[in-house]
Amino acid sequence: MGGKLPFEQLLKKDPSAPCTGQFYMINHHKDRRNTSIRRGPPPRQVPAAENPPWRLQRILAQSGLASRRKAEDLIRQGRVIVDGRVVTQLGLKIIPSEHRIEVDGRLLASPESKAYYLFNKPKGVLSTLQDPQGRPTIKDFLSQSRIKERLFPVGRLDWDAEGLMLLTNDGEMAQTLQHPRFQVPKTYRVKIRGIPSLDSLRRLQAGIRLPIGKKHQADWEMVKTGIDRSWLLITIREGEKHQVKNMLAAIGHPVITLKRVALGPLTLGRLAPGEMRSLTTQEIQALKGQDPTFPTY
Ligand code: URA
Repeated sequence: MGGKLPFEQLLKKDPSAPCTGQFYMINHHKDRRNTSIRRGPPPRQVPAAENPPWRLQRILAQSGLASRRKAEDLIRQGRVIVDGRVVTQLGLKIIPSEHRIEVDGRLLASPESKAYYLFNKPKGVLSTLQDPQGRPTIKDFLSQSRIKERLFPVGRLDWDAEGLMLLTNDGEMAQTLQHPRFQVPKTYRVKIRGIPSLDSLRRLQAGIRLPIGKKHQADWEMVKTGIDRSWLLITIREGEKHQVKNMLAAIGHPVITLKRVALGPLTLGRLAPGEMRSLTTQEIQALKGQDPTFPTY
């Protein structure tokens, strides 16, 4: 799924604002994990799936369980059971919703019932599915897409912010990604007023107590500075409302613009505002890797 949605009709302005997507390195000083953001190839546009029946290995791959090749290995190894019978041949085509598929004794969730999309929420759009005041929401974009599943957004993004949002119908995954226990990193490219001193930036790193009480910590990377503006990458592992804006305001450098460029292993890449695409199998697997309780094969 891909392609530009009629964003201009929703916002009545030019949707083709450039998605900068420069190459940045983020210093995660604390855990030193390799979480660099790379420009990389443009995101793969996955075509909308045609109707089943589908090959068994494809069904396994689409469920996010394994790559297509690994799924074939699972079948050959006799680890896949369809309606109580072990299947070891690769040619079997079935309609997933009509059969019971087990892998290593675990029931496979129907691939039709799980969908994962990456959306670049534009500025001026609410990150919800409805608004009593009738302002544009993510729902407007979903209604105009060909996506059949009932997706919901994972987490929130301010009305005036843009960037990466995960849309899914996988409640378990959504909960995992938002649970504080998993500390899933979220990276924002922000433009702020002024040029912060190293001391101020170190305060972000050390943790800032916001008026709501809790101490919040952020990793930062200075991208560039202008005369009286700076551009930074800020990574947080919680998701308090207005957290990045509040933290930067607390060190005296209010945010002018904010764009989420990464969520856990997902990066926005060159997806333009208003566009969405389905996640690749690798991305789904990487997401599931965020939770050690997810089965991995
Ligand atoms: N922090 C903010 O201030 N706003 C967002 O939308 C997300 C993080």
